[in-house]
Formats: sequence, structure tokens, C-alpha cells
Amino acid sequence: MTNSHQRLYINIDHVATVRQARRTVEPDPVAAATICEEAGADGITAHLREDRRHIIDDDVYRLARSVKTVLNLEMANTAEMVEIALRVRPYQVTLVPERREEITTEGGLDVTRDPAGLVASITRLQAAGIGVSLFIDPDERMVRASRDLGATAVELHTGTYAHHPTDEMPLRALQAAAALGATLGLHVHAGHGLTVANVGRVAAIPAIEELNIGHAIVGRAIFIGIAAAVREMRVAMDAARAST
Ligand code: PXP
Repeated sequence: MTNSHQRLYINIDHVATVRQARRTVEPDPVAAATICEEAGADGITAHLREDRRHIIDDDVYRLARSVKTVLNLEMANTAEMVEIALRVRPYQVTLVPERREEITTEGGLDVTRDPAGLVASITRLQAAGIGVSLFIDPDERMVRASRDLGATAVELHTGTYAHHPTDEMPLRALQAAAALGATLGLHVHAGHGLTVANVGRVAAIPAIEELNIGHAIVGRAIFIGIAAAVREMRVAMDAARAST
């Protein structure tokens, strides 16, 4: 049995997606975040994209004031975003790759591409007391490079697993990368494409301390409400962890 509590952070981006479909004020992702926290979320995640297609700057500032658990700000490693993060001072920043044309974050950050730029941002953010997680593919080279850059944590991209939940290879890659990250002293998180149906095998990986889940929660909320969707995910995670 894996006793340690695995944190569930809820990504509320797609509440903002629905709002932005009409460029109005409802539904409010900040109000949704409060309900998620009351339903047991351990943290709130929001991705401020360069094109502001869902979360907008005002949401981030309001979340920073209202979140009672912790705020995880996902963002690209750009000068603009680092300045915003330094003003907002979230508990954690997760650096993600970003291309305007993508529908969602496709693939992890190639942390070997601009090591100097990453070290500069990681150092500035950490000096301000902000933990820095790097969203990477579950790949040994990326995990080792993340450690070398001085990251606080890595978030393992679970997209390949989520698309092929019964294949052993993507799951093994996650297990190996998680174990390696923990051995190297990194905190290990995971996320992307996780649902109640597929979360179990990822939740059961002992080294994974935190899951970031968004789309499935907001999608399910349409039918059962967001509080019930959070609780349902929590139950699925706990059941999987207890059975290991
Ligand atoms: N983690 C990261 C770094 C992400 O970019 C996303 C998507 O915004 C998620 C987790 C959540 O993925 P999903 O919305 O598929 O649950």
C-alpha cells in the first residue's frame, strides 16, 4: 500500500474556455477554484497562455488572492510570463512548451534546448520563493537534465499513456521516469489527459506526489457538477493507491 497522500491539483482553464466562448464574465474560474478546494482539491492550476485564449491576467491575480490551498501557474518560459509570475508569486510555476496553433500542450518541454534561459528563469523564480516544476516527457534524459538545471520538480507528461492506457510501454516509461526523478531528489508530478477511467495506474506510481487534472474534471462537471467531479477523481486516485 502506498500510504503517502497524493495531491490532486485541479486545472480550471476550461471553465475559462466556456466563459471566453462569449467573452463574458461567467462561468468564473475563480469561483470554480473555490468549489474545487472545498471538494478536496489540494491545489489549483491555471495556464496563462500567450494568446489568453482561456485564463486571462485578471484571473491569475484574482486566483492569487482567493486560493486558500496553493496556486500552480503554468506558463511558457518567456520574459513576459516570468515578470507576471514574479508579481503574482504563486506557490509553484510549471514551465510548459507553448505554440499558438496547438489545441493543448502537446509534448513536454525540451529542457536540453535553452538551458541558459531555463536556468535564468528557474533561479529568478526560486529566489522569489516560487517552486519551479518542468513539464517533460517521461524520458530519462529529460529527467536528468531537469535536475541539472536546478528544477524543484518535474511534471511527467501522461498524454501518451492516456491515449494508450492498456499499452505497457507508456506506463513503464512513467514508472521509470518517476523513480529516477525521486532518486535524483526531484519532486515528481504528472498530468495531461487523465480521467477517472485511466487515472488509476498513474496514481499507483509511488514516486508521483501530485497530479494535475483539468479537462476531464470540467467535462464531467457538466453532468454531475464540479465538486462531485473532484470527489470522484479523489476516490479513483485513493482506491488505486490503496491497492498497490
Ligand atoms: N499539466 C500540464 C503541464 C498541462 O499543460 C495540462 C493541460 O493544460 C494539464 C496538466 C492538464 O491536462 P488535462 O486538461 O488534459 O487534464
